[in-house]
Amino acid sequence: MERPANSILTIFGASGDLTKRKLIPALFDLFQQKLLPEKFAVLGVSRTEYSDESFREKMASGVKESRDQETPQSETMSNFLKHVYYESIETENTDEYIRIKKRLENLYREYQAGGNTIYYLALPPDMYEKVSLNLKQQGLQQQNESGNWKRIIIEKPFGYDLTSAIALNHKLHEVFQEDQIYRIDHYLGKETVQNVLAFRFANGIFEPLWNRNYIHHVEVTGAEDNGVENRGRYYDKSGALRDMVQSHLLQIVGLIAMESPPSFNPTAVRNETVKVFQSICQMTPEKVLHNVVRGQYMASEIRGEKIPGYREEKNVPSDSRTETFVALKFYIDNWRWGGVPFFIRTGKRLPTRVTEVVIHFKRTPHRLFRSQYTSYSSGNKLIIRIQPDEGILLNFGMKLPGAGFELKEVSMDFHYSDLADIYLPDAYERLLLDCMMGDNTLYARADAVEACWKFITPILDTWKENPEQKIYGYPAGTWGPREASDLFEDKNEDWRYPCKNLTGQGEYCEL
Ligand SMILES: NC(=O)c1ccc[n+]([C@@H]2O[C@H](COP(=O)([O-])OP(=O)(O)OC[C@H]3O[C@@H](n4cnc5c(N)ncnc54)[C@H](OP(=O)(O)O)[C@@H]3O)[C@@H](O)[C@H]2O)c1
Repeated sequence: MERPANSILTIFGASGDLTKRKLIPALFDLFQQKLLPEKFAVLGVSRTEYSDESFREKMASGVKESRDQETPQSETMSNFLKHVYYESIETENTDEYIRIKKRLENLYREYQAGGNTIYYLALPPDMYEKVSLNLKQQGLQQQNESGNWKRIIIEKPFGYDLTSAIALNHKLHEVFQEDQIYRIDHYLGKETVQNVLAFRFANGIFEPLWNRNYIHHVEVTGAEDNGVENRGRYYDKSGALRDMVQSHLLQIVGLIAMESPPSFNPTAVRNETVKVFQSICQMTPEKVLHNVVRGQYMASEIRGEKIPGYREEKNVPSDSRTETFVALKFYIDNWRWGGVPFFIRTGKRLPTRVTEVVIHFKRTPHRLFRSQYTSYSSGNKLIIRIQPDEGILLNFGMKLPGAGFELKEVSMDFHYSDLADIYLPDAYERLLLDCMMGDNTLYARADAVEACWKFITPILDTWKENPEQKIYGYPAGTWGPREASDLFEDKNEDWRYPCKNLTGQGEYCEL
């Protein structure tokens, strides 16, 4: 593979969790595979005081913890760490960016990077605007005529609602052009998410069925088995709808529902996904009442272990009405998908951690076999498993051997783990490399982010304006409120449950 041009990666918020746990380990993996530029450096920036050496030590421990490296002081590790530097500044103070400028100029010379820089904002979101303006104050965003480039990566959340997302985009555009802005959603860096494109558009047999004539409904689940852990303060202001649906899960819907782009280039692919978001039927207060179910996990006991309820978590108010679970039904108003319901479900403290898409095909028009009413009752299902155990399964009915015509659901499956010698890169590896190459296909464009918020914001507004709208308590370790199943009009339909409820004992209730 062609290697990216020499460049410097400047990480703001380098003392934080994301840098240590995700970014530096991903860069180390790229370094080991010789995929980084020939000459490349990382400049960590944040307020905490570190020397280059003490920062390197902290990063080495991050790689060790996240990649299970036995020998972080190996030759490769120490060669990698030689490329890592640190500068402590008061992030909000414009004048201190002069020091960043000087440091970068030295690094450009040393690494023959010609002024190429990526600024990665691994910071709390309320700092994005300030830092980009500070960069502008010192001219650090300028690309010169000799073809050097400046790019900025910002982490989700991209705004808090439609108004704040538009305002943030506006502020970023005062400093950077849209093609310099890389809004990272690490879900799009996952192999299985990208494989949706290959699966759909590199195979002739699925696409003819991929529409309202053959698909009954589409289900997207993003389940987490952990609670909010030490993110209570952030999570309570966010909730499941903002945290998971607005970004990750809608991005997946975009790839599932898009039309084939005319070519595989960033603009063409992103033009098609944004059309999907713009075609989603808007929610009204009435629709929110009937098509959205929210819940919050309650204390329970799982295999003898007491699990605290959401309101007992650190930094969560004891009367919080933030949803830790949300399930919704919506439609995409276009020729391909008219009338096909899309269901999204996500939550914390569910029985397992799984992200998957299930395409439910319509049933046969005529049920020839008696057992089609019993043991094998549903239509064919295509399951795209995004994590864990990444793979694709196609479910169908087969006759059980022996007398009669008893049917059983069986599957044809592909697991990435079967490709024993194939290395499955981490999502950040892929996305960082893409940014270095100037490929923003897998990054969210401003119009896509705004279209997603346009769909989500009426739900948030309805909840805010009608606080009496129900929020259901569900015991930790179960698949969320039972009311989520009521979203299916046909009582024979339900969500797919990749595993059973845990033995958790607790109460279902209305909060
Ligand atoms: N961690 C993850 O796995 C993850 C996943 C997805 C998205 N994200 C997003 O990535 C960003 C960074 O996440 P993180 O987990 O690394 O966050 P973090 O550990 O809480 O914060 C990152 C760094 O930002 C700096 N910072 C905090 N408050 C600041 C302030 N008021 N002014 C200036 N600097 C400040 C801190 O460094 P100093 O105090 O040293 O300046 C801190 O180390 C966030 O936007 C988060 O939503 C994180």
